[in-house]
Amino acid sequence: MRPILIDCDPGHDDALAILTAYAHKEELKILGVTTIGGNQTLEKVTENAKRILHFLDADIPLASGQAGPLVKSLHTAADAHGESGMDGPVFEEADYPLASDNAVVFLKEQIMACPGKVTIVAIGPLTNIALLLKVYPETKKKIDCISIMGGGISHGNSTELAEFNIYVDPEAAHIVFNAGIPIVMAGLDVTEKALITVQEIEALKKKGRVSRMAGELLSFYNESGRQYGFIDSPIHDLCAIAYLLEPDLFQGEYQAVDVITEEGRARGLTFADKRLMCDKIKNVFVLEQVERDRFAAMLIEALEKLDGRE
Ligand code: BDR
Ligand code: CA
Repeated sequence: MRPILIDCDPGHDDALAILTAYAHKEELKILGVTTIGGNQTLEKVTENAKRILHFLDADIPLASGQAGPLVKSLHTAADAHGESGMDGPVFEEADYPLASDNAVVFLKEQIMACPGKVTIVAIGPLTNIALLLKVYPETKKKIDCISIMGGGISHGNSTELAEFNIYVDPEAAHIVFNAGIPIVMAGLDVTEKALITVQEIEALKKKGRVSRMAGELLSFYNESGRQYGFIDSPIHDLCAIAYLLEPDLFQGEYQAVDVITEEGRARGLTFADKRLMCDKIKNVFVLEQVERDRFAAMLIEALEKLDGRE
C-alpha cells in the first residue's frame, strides 16, 4: 500500500481527488490531508476539507497550512469554485477535528514517522510543500515522488501562459521543481483532456449518497466551466491521484521543466527546455495524454464503491 499525503485547496476537483483516493483504501493509505489557501481563503478551503472528510465519516488527520503565497498576496478562484470554494451541495455542519494548524510541521512529522517513503499529492498552490522542503530538507530523501496538478507546457488558464496553482505562488513552485525530488506533473496539457461529460454528471445524480453529492458538485463546476469555454468538465486534480492508481491511463515524457518567477507576461509559466542539445536534467515526468473513458470510469466506479460502503 502506498502512503500518501494530500495537500489541497478544495475546490471541486480537489474534493473528487480525495473521494477517489479514499475509495482505493487497498492501494493508497492517506496519512493526512493538508490545506493551502488557493481556490478560496485558507479558512474556507479548510472548512471544505472538513466537510468532505466528515461526509465520508473518515478518520484521516487534517492540518491547515499557509493562508497565502510566499511573496505575493493570494488571489482566489471564486469564479470557478464559488463563494464557499466548493459551491453546489448543501453540507451539514462539519464536526471534524483539526489535527494541527501548522501543515508544514505536520507534513514533516508524518513523513519522518513513516517507515518507508511517502508520496506527496500536491493539488493546490505549492506554498506548504516549498516550505517543507526548505525548512526540513531531511524530508527530501523520504519522499519518493511529488504528484502535482499544476502548470502546463503549452498554455495556461490564469494567464495565457500560467496555470492557477503555479501562478498563485511561482516562487514556491520554483523551489519544488528544483528540489531534486522526482515530480510527475499533471498540467493543463493533460488535465483539460480529463473530462467528465454532462451526461455522466446527470447519471451520478440518480445514484447513491456519495455519487449524488459528487454529481451536485460537478453540476456547479460544469456550469461555471462554461465561462471558460468548457462543455464537459476537466477534473484537473483527479489526474494526480489517477496517475498513482493507474499510470497506464496516461502517456507522458520526461522533460527539463523550470518555473518562471520574473515579473511580466511569463510569470508562473512552467517552461520546458525542448532543445535537442539541452543538457539540463529532465526533472519532471510531464503527462500529456489520458484515456478519457477509462479516467471517467475510474471516478464513477470510485464513487459507486463509496456508495456501497454506506
Ligand atoms: C487547478 O486550479 C484550481 O482551480 C483547481 O482546483 C486545480 O487544482 C486547475 O488550474
Ligand atoms: Ca486544487
